[in-house]
Amino acid sequence: MYRSHTNGELRLSHQQETVTLAGWVQKIRDKGFMIWVDLRDRYGITQLIFDEERTPATVMEKAKSLGREFVIQIKGKVIERESKNANIPTGEIEILVEELEVLNKALVPPFTIEDKTDGGEDLRMKYRYLDIRRNPVKNKLVFRHKVTMEVRNFLSNQNFVEVETPYLIKSTPEGARDFVVPSRMNEGQFYALPQSPQTFKQLLMVGGMDKYFQIVKCFRDEDLRADRQPEFTQIDCEMAFVEQEDILDIFENLTRHLLKEINGVKVEKFPRMTYDDAMRKYGNDKPDIRFGMEFGELNEVTKHKDFKIFNEADLVVGIAVPDGAKYSRKEIDKLIDWVKRPQVGALGMVYAKYNEDGTFKSSVDKFYEEEDLKQWAEKTNAKPGDLICVLSGEKNKVRAQLSALRMEMAERLGLRKANEFAPLWVVDFPLLEWDEETERYHAMHHPFTSPKVEDIPLLATAPGKVKANAYDLVLNGNEIGGGSIRIHDKETQATMFDYLGFSEEEAKAQFGFLMDAFQYGAPPHGGLAFGLDRLVAILGGQETIRDFIAFPKNNAGRDVMIDAPAKIDEEQLKELHLKVELE
Ligand code: AMO
Repeated sequence: MYRSHTNGELRLSHQQETVTLAGWVQKIRDKGFMIWVDLRDRYGITQLIFDEERTPATVMEKAKSLGREFVIQIKGKVIERESKNANIPTGEIEILVEELEVLNKALVPPFTIEDKTDGGEDLRMKYRYLDIRRNPVKNKLVFRHKVTMEVRNFLSNQNFVEVETPYLIKSTPEGARDFVVPSRMNEGQFYALPQSPQTFKQLLMVGGMDKYFQIVKCFRDEDLRADRQPEFTQIDCEMAFVEQEDILDIFENLTRHLLKEINGVKVEKFPRMTYDDAMRKYGNDKPDIRFGMEFGELNEVTKHKDFKIFNEADLVVGIAVPDGAKYSRKEIDKLIDWVKRPQVGALGMVYAKYNEDGTFKSSVDKFYEEEDLKQWAEKTNAKPGDLICVLSGEKNKVRAQLSALRMEMAERLGLRKANEFAPLWVVDFPLLEWDEETERYHAMHHPFTSPKVEDIPLLATAPGKVKANAYDLVLNGNEIGGGSIRIHDKETQATMFDYLGFSEEEAKAQFGFLMDAFQYGAPPHGGLAFGLDRLVAILGGQETIRDFIAFPKNNAGRDVMIDAPAKIDEEQLKELHLKVELE
């Protein structure tokens, strides 16, 4: 038996018991005649004491050879500590060691295995297994497990069945690039790793599974960000004989259940916002509604003056930054530089200070009078003391720019509080999205999403205006999940492929299996998928998903610990019938 207890377990009530413990040496304090060692495992830390007077000399000798991160096993007696440590649960006791076994030596770790470590990000990623020994990382993985278990139990209790779908498949169109796997047995042919199990879960509905879920890895070759990894996990779900309302209901309940069980937070019914409203009010289809700063459109109240830039703009739009009127000229100039950064891309920013005394001072005083600025204040909901920031230009671009400014100001003002949760559904997404590059419409969600029945006639005349039965769950400014009611008949699906520019042959080659299946009695169905990594991170009060993944990739898509991706040898290439020619 390696241990009778864990290192987080022993209390004063265990006094005088002889126990066996195992773990890693966290810290050693050697006073010569007395040595204290902090012994760590997943469950906590227990203090060991080696005392010249009470510990056998051979054990004392061995203790002197210990180093940080050595793996040891000890046997000893639980005694009351003289100086207690109220900061840890085992802080009232220590173990007077009688036997010591070194199970494995360790090199000096490249960074300190403490809550506050001296190791930089790169070093910690290279030695991720050491980083996982630290509480902040370990706790996040345990937290993820807790959330995952809650999800599994909740869905299983609702009669969902977890079914595994294959990883070696054909391309699924979710909008990113595929990772591909060459086939040895089928020369010149490739599998694609799933960007999601979308088509399979639809086939499971045709198969009569009725309620499916899967906690599943998905793979997307896309540019990485704090909330994106090339391989990530979805809570993927599909249901038959449902309407949008049924799906929103179940997954709102799931989210509410998690907020309650995991965060102890009670949330009322989630607000719903149409995509159009979200774009108009927040310039974003995943608005953070924990705070205000809603957009005020100003075209009407800025026209008919001599300010050409506003007169010619597609959209003039502003927000009121709380208490911003006190910003100095220098601070405002810095803000203007911020919106002009290439990442944001505004050409400039007009501002108006709404002073505490009710007067205004703007950067365009030449063109606008107090009466005009009062109207700006009304439209942006500004109060005395606020700073009105105004951008103008092409509608979609300027909305994205002002949205970036809104989020930045909220961050700076501390309005994005990690322990506050503001979920909402964004509904009525457009079915199609115009792509400038290919000069074609693309499916905004994916090509299996059904248009709203009443909008079907618009498909021929104004495809951009057609709305879909598609929805996203947004939490604190993050897209946690998305889904839709699907097309379930062959004809509509064929029409949809046609609108998306697939020829009949292409559609058949890529999705013939699905269209075939639709001919054998496909039930009406729909579903959604949550991003588990994102959900866990947000519930954990953070937005970087990497910390909640045991072995994540860096921003270049590399695993620096195992050094992947890597070259493969000639022999392997040959077997796969591949030749690599680098440019
Ligand atoms: P979608 O593409 O919206 O929908 O993905 C669902 C959710 O997965 C998460 N997500 C990611 N998380 C981390 N890294 C990534 N690279 C990444 N990409 C997506 C997001 C997102 O909301 N098949 C559809 C679902 C459906 O229609 O049922 C789908 O995959 O949180």
